[in-house]
Parts: sequence; structure tokens; C-alpha cells
Amino acid sequence: MEYLRLGRTNLRISRIGLGTWQFSDAWGTPSKEMASKVVSRALDLGINFFDTAMVYGMGTSERLLGEALREAGVDGDDVVISTKVPGEFLNKLDVPASVEKSLRNLGLDCVDVLLAHWPPCWHNFPLKEYARAMESLVNMGKVRCLGLSDHPVELVESFRSYLSKADVEVLQVRYNLVERWAEAELVPYAEKHCMTVQAWSPIAKGALTGKYPPGHHLFEDVRSNDPVFHPENYKKVWDVVKVLKEVGEKYNKKPVQVALNWLLMSSPAVVPIPGAKTSKQVEDLVGAVEWRMSYSDWLALHEATINMHLMYSARYVL
Ligand SMILES: NC(=O)c1ccc[n+]([C@@H]2O[C@H](COP(=O)([O-])OP(=O)(O)OC[C@H]3O[C@@H](n4cnc5c(N)ncnc54)[C@H](OP(=O)(O)O)[C@@H]3O)[C@@H](O)[C@H]2O)c1
Repeated sequence: MEYLRLGRTNLRISRIGLGTWQFSDAWGTPSKEMASKVVSRALDLGINFFDTAMVYGMGTSERLLGEALREAGVDGDDVVISTKVPGEFLNKLDVPASVEKSLRNLGLDCVDVLLAHWPPCWHNFPLKEYARAMESLVNMGKVRCLGLSDHPVELVESFRSYLSKADVEVLQVRYNLVERWAEAELVPYAEKHCMTVQAWSPIAKGALTGKYPPGHHLFEDVRSNDPVFHPENYKKVWDVVKVLKEVGEKYNKKPVQVALNWLLMSSPAVVPIPGAKTSKQVEDLVGAVEWRMSYSDWLALHEATINMHLMYSARYVL
């Protein structure tokens, strides 16, 4: 495994993390056994950076992650965990209550990285209020550092302006080879300010693995309506999978490993946080690090996707 510093902190994190939304009903029926196997294999292979959120199964993911870590004999100091306060709870009353609940779920005394999960859209909570509420948890030792998820740069700047001593160390964004919007503003901003970018959906919810040939995906999970899998979009995604396969053959790597390796090469700030359901998937994900494709192969993938746009309204308008 490769390691790097999280933002400007002294926390040492693995070059890829593990997302644990998969330990919730959004992705099927979560089980303690599945979570334990996935987490234990991830730890064996050197992953020490885990992402969860209160909304993932309303605490189920946090609970299963906490139990799996305890079962593996790991305590909070051996790993770095990010969790999130949902946009609906971003006010001075709900932020501390939400974090207290997350800590109980995880069985920990302190959250390593606390992120605002998404900007509050429905209640008009002022950004100043949740910035101050989150920072006061840092001051009280309940949280080590702060992050923002799915916040545009303008809101990141504004949030930072209300902090006294703490700063934003992590930005969490959707970022994968076929959804590259983060490259325009968020990734350069994070690089400039030495923040870590947690890339979510780094394998486009499994689309970049190449295991779903066009026309064969009748999902009964969160992917059932995902625009990536809409036939019109998926045609384009599948063309990219073909390039991933070609590149992978040169290095004896799977498409999923090439897709993640491409992200690692694209920015030193980016730490992908793919989710996994089995220990075999974890093994494959870890095979994305400790090697790099050539610049010309990186470029071939860059050129295959730079002008590619998925249509997010496809289900409604086509
Ligand atoms: N901040 C946010 O708003 C936000 C939003 C979404 C996600 N996240 C975080 O990001 C994490 C990952 O993103 P994501 O859940 O959207 O999906 P993802 O990581 O892009 O894809 C995960 C899915 O791909 C498949 N897969 C994983 N490894 C594989 C392998 N080696 N070979 C073949 N298939 C493999 C699995 O599903 P199948 O086996 O069923 O195909 C798995 O559930 C989440 O767990 C969560 O922590 C954050």
C-alpha cells in the first residue's frame, strides 16, 4: 500500500480508502458478516482510511463499520474514519446531536474527519452557523478535522471564512473517468490549498469494472435509476471500458484497477474511496496502487473521456 498525509494534518492515510455506503440497504441487504469480511481484508491489505455517513442506512453503515473494526482488534488510533452530517441537520442544534449519534454508532470518542454531507437545500440553514457548529466540535476534541462534501468552491471559500482556527482539510466529490466535473474547479482548488480530495463513485458504481455488458443490468439497488446506466449514456461508458481493457492487458490489470490508477495519476490530492461488497473486490481495488500506467496510456484514457458528457436527464427526456 502507498500512504500520504490527509490534507495538512499529521494523519497518515492509505492511497485508496474504502467507502462503506455498501453496508446499507441502498446496495442490497447489509449484513454484519459481509461488512466484517470486507473490512478485515481491507485492513490486511493496508487500507486504513474508511468513509461512512449517518445517512448510509441511518446509522447501519457506521455501526457495521465500528463493529467490524472492533472485531478486527483495531481501535480508533489505527485507522482514519470520515463520517458526515446530512444537509438536513446542518444547524447548531442538530450538528452536535448528529455527531454524538455517529460516535455511538461507530463506538468511538472522536471523529477523524467530519464532513457536511451536502449543502442544506431545503431549510436555508446559514453556512456560518454550521461552520461554527462544526468548528466548535474540533475545539472540544470530538472531531479531529473538517471536510465538505458536494460543496462547490464558492461555498467552500465561504465556509472557510467563518472558521477561526480550524480549516477544511478534505473535499469529497463525485469523480471518476466518465464523470470529470470535479477537475474544473474542486480538484485544482484542493491541490492549491493542500486539501485531500475523497473521490466518490470512483468506479462509477461498478460501470467501469466491465462486468456489466450493455443491456444486462436490471439493478434492484441504488443503481436502478442511475444515469450512468441509462442505455444512451452506457453506450459511451462501454467504449471507455474497452480502452480500460486494452490498457489493462499491457499491465495484467483489470479495468477497475486501471480506472482507479488513472485517478491516482491525475492528481496527487485525489484519494479514491471505492465501495466493495466482497473481500475479492477489495483485493482487486488494492491492486490499483503500487504501480502506474505510462503517460501515453494515461493520455489515451484522458482523450477518450475529456469531451464525453453523460446526460443526467436521459431518463426523463429521451
Ligand atoms: N459524499 C457523497 O455524496 C457520496 C455519494 C456516494 C458515495 N459516497 C462514498 O463513496 C463510496 C463509493 O462510491 P459508490 O458507492 O457510489 O460506488 P463505487 O465505489 O463507484 O462502486 C462500488 C460498487 O462497484 C462494485 N465493485 C466494487 N469493487 C469491485 C471490483 N473489484 N470488481 C467488480 N465490481 C466491484 C460493487 O457493486 P456490485 O458488485 O454490485 O457491482 C460496489 O458496490 C461510497 O461507499 C461512499 O462511502 C459518497
